[in-house]
Amino acid sequence: MITIMRKVSTFNPERKIINEAAKIITSGGLVAFPTETVYGLGADALNPDAVRKIYAAKGRPSDNPLILHVHSPEHAAQLVHMNAQAERLAKIFWPAPLTLVLPAKPHIPLITRGGLDTAAVRMPDNPTALALIEASHTPIAAPSANISGRPSPTDAQSVFADMDGRIDFILDGGSVDIGIESTVIDLTNHEKPLMLRPGGMSREIIENELGLTLSVPGTDSAKRSPGTRYRHYAPSIPVRIWHEESDIDTHTAGYMGVHDTHKNFGDVVLFDDFANYARGLFAGFRKFEREGVSCIFVEWPESNSGICEGLRDRIKRAAGCYV
Ligand code: TXA
Ligand code: MG
Repeated sequence: MITIMRKVSTFNPERKIINEAAKIITSGGLVAFPTETVYGLGADALNPDAVRKIYAAKGRPSDNPLILHVHSPEHAAQLVHMNAQAERLAKIFWPAPLTLVLPAKPHIPLITRGGLDTAAVRMPDNPTALALIEASHTPIAAPSANISGRPSPTDAQSVFADMDGRIDFILDGGSVDIGIESTVIDLTNHEKPLMLRPGGMSREIIENELGLTLSVPGTDSAKRSPGTRYRHYAPSIPVRIWHEESDIDTHTAGYMGVHDTHKNFGDVVLFDDFANYARGLFAGFRKFEREGVSCIFVEWPESNSGICEGLRDRIKRAAGCYV
C-alpha cells in the first residue's frame, strides 16, 4: 500500500484535501490526522471492516476499545446514552482533551468498543480533525497513530515512520499542542465517576466542574481502562527515571526534563516548564532513538497536579520494567 501524506493548515484546513481524506474514510480506508493531543489513526467507527484494519495496522490487541471522535455533543448523543454529568462536561469543555465513557447504543460495532457495553466519545480541539469528522459524515474511531506500544506520534513524520505502507493517508497538520493523550473518564456510575487515564485535561478542572472527586479504579478492577493494562509509550531503548544518585556512565545516555542535572550526558533536551515537557516527551523519545543513545533518563515531575499527573503516568509506563 502507498501511503500519501498531504500538508494542511491545521487551523484553516484546505477543503479539497479534507474531502480527499474523508472519501478514504467513507470508503473504508485509514487516515491519520492531527488532534490537539497526539495524531490519531482514523477509520469509520460504524464500519467493522474498516475498524479491523486499525487493529491490524497498529498490531493492537482487539480487546482494547477505541475512542469515537465526534464533531459535537449532539453527535456523541447519537452513539452513547449521555447522562447529566456527561452533558455538562461536554457543554462546558468540548472540544477538549477529555474522553467520556458511557453506555453504548447498540449500533456501535462490537469491534469498535472492544466487545464492551460502553463506548468512549471525544470531540477533539483541532479544526482539521473536526473538519474531517464533519466531511466524513460518520464518527471516526481513532487510537494514537503509532505501532502498538511505541511512543504516540506528535507530528506527521512520526506517524510516517511507524505507518508508511500500512495506511492510506496522512494529514500533516504540523506538531500537536498538548503532546499526551486525552483524559479518559468513566461516567457510567454517576455517584462514582472514575478517571481511567490521566491526560491532557487536569483532574482538578473536571472535579471542580462535577463537584465530585474522581476515583481511580483498582489494579484488579474490571472497570480499568483496557488500554492501561499494556506496556506503553516506550521507545526501543530503555527509559529510566533520573535519580540524583544514579551512579552510571552518562556520556552515552540522553536526558530529558525541566531541570538540568549538570552531568555529562551524550545529549540533553531541556524544557521551559512541564507543559512543554509533556508536549515534547514522545518526540524526545523518538529523537534519542534515532541518535542511538544507550539509555534515556527522564526527570520525574515533583508535583502531581495539572498536566503532571498525565506526564507522570506516561513516564512510568515508558520506563516499565526499567524503573
Ligand atoms: O488523545 C487521545 O485520546 C488520542 C487521540 C487520537 O484522540 N487517542 C488515544 O486513543 O489515545 P488510544 O486508543 O491510544 O487510547 C484510548 C484509551 C485506551 O486506554 C482504551 O482502553 C480506553 O481509551 N477506552 C476506549 N473505550 C473504552 C471503554 N469503552 N471503556 C474503557 N476504556 C475505554
Ligand atoms: Mg495509544
